[in-house]
Amino acid sequence: MALPDVFTRYRPAIDAGLRQALDGGASDLYAMLRYHMGWLDEEGRPTEGASGKAVRPALCLFACEAAGGVAEQALPAAVAIELVHNFSLIHDDIQDGDTERHHHPTVWYRWGHSHGVNAGDAMFVLGHQALIASDGLAPRTALAVSRILTRACAEMIEGQVLDLTFEQRASVGVEEYLRMIGKKTGALLEGSLHMGAVIGCEDPATIEAMRCFGNALGLLFQVRDDMLGVWGVAERTGKPVGSDIHRRKKSLPIVHALETAEGAGRERLVEIYRKDAPLDEADIESVLGVLADLGTQQVCEAIADKQADRSVAELDTVELSPKARRECEELTQFLLKRDY
Ligand code: IPE
Ligand code: IPE
Ligand code: MG
Ligand code: MG
Repeated sequence: MALPDVFTRYRPAIDAGLRQALDGGASDLYAMLRYHMGWLDEEGRPTEGASGKAVRPALCLFACEAAGGVAEQALPAAVAIELVHNFSLIHDDIQDGDTERHHHPTVWYRWGHSHGVNAGDAMFVLGHQALIASDGLAPRTALAVSRILTRACAEMIEGQVLDLTFEQRASVGVEEYLRMIGKKTGALLEGSLHMGAVIGCEDPATIEAMRCFGNALGLLFQVRDDMLGVWGVAERTGKPVGSDIHRRKKSLPIVHALETAEGAGRERLVEIYRKDAPLDEADIESVLGVLADLGTQQVCEAIADKQADRSVAELDTVELSPKARRECEELTQFLLKRDY
């Protein structure tokens, strides 16, 4: 599936902004940050590429432009949210015990938990710094944007806490799950579009429509992520497939299965999810079998479709240019179908 123009046209500016924000010299800290960003390999040698998709900064710049502004003006906000997102990834890998991301060992796995915490903290603070160090915005706008960023960040952390507490529970309802992902993932995606719109225009209806569009995209994004965690291809996602099941995460496929399975399938699932010992390949196969019997993949697809429909419907109340509207639809379709 072709990458929509929204995710390619701003990329050089985003990458340059990110490199500038992390241009803190040759210390060990910055080496870890650059490694996480995919700019250094495990031996500290520069690499060509970058590994994240940079979805959030692209959405931020796009929202600014779609709202009638000049994308460049939103660059500090776009850089800020991408760094805050990467802070969340570095800490998330510690919390989830994940050893691989972007096809490489995670920061904590490479340098240990303590340095993982430090690297994440630095990413967080440099994100905020990228925003407040820029003087391209009127003070009132800068303050409004900074408020959106900090609120989104606090909400994301609230979601991360819920996600971890759900792991310990016997079952979680789909509605509760959706509230949780709205925070852990939705908050930053919503924040990206919201910040961009606030920078791009002063019309409250447009700003609100963009924020709501982002809210639906956030849910859609995590539902797809949970699907890729079970049915994705590791070479594409850069994360070992099956790790969500190994960790007994209440990701959407499992939430659905625990809610709907009956009889022998239910017994198998409950038994596996209650086990103290680590899961083996036979357990994973068994879980996958229950999911297949229940048609869980189709149910997840339907939930993602619903959010995709809602996302563009949120824009019906405002007049966007035909190009902006078309691009909103394109990027929704991409996030719905992405395989990495
Ligand atoms: C991963 O986000 C974490 C979630 C919120 C699902 P992305 O898939 O956007 O991560 P990168 O930045 O492209 O690696
Ligand atoms: C995504 O968490 C949310 C954040 C990182 C804040 P997940 O744990 O579901 O995402 P992946 O699968 O590790 O990227
Ligand atoms: Mg994780
Ligand atoms: Mg997590």
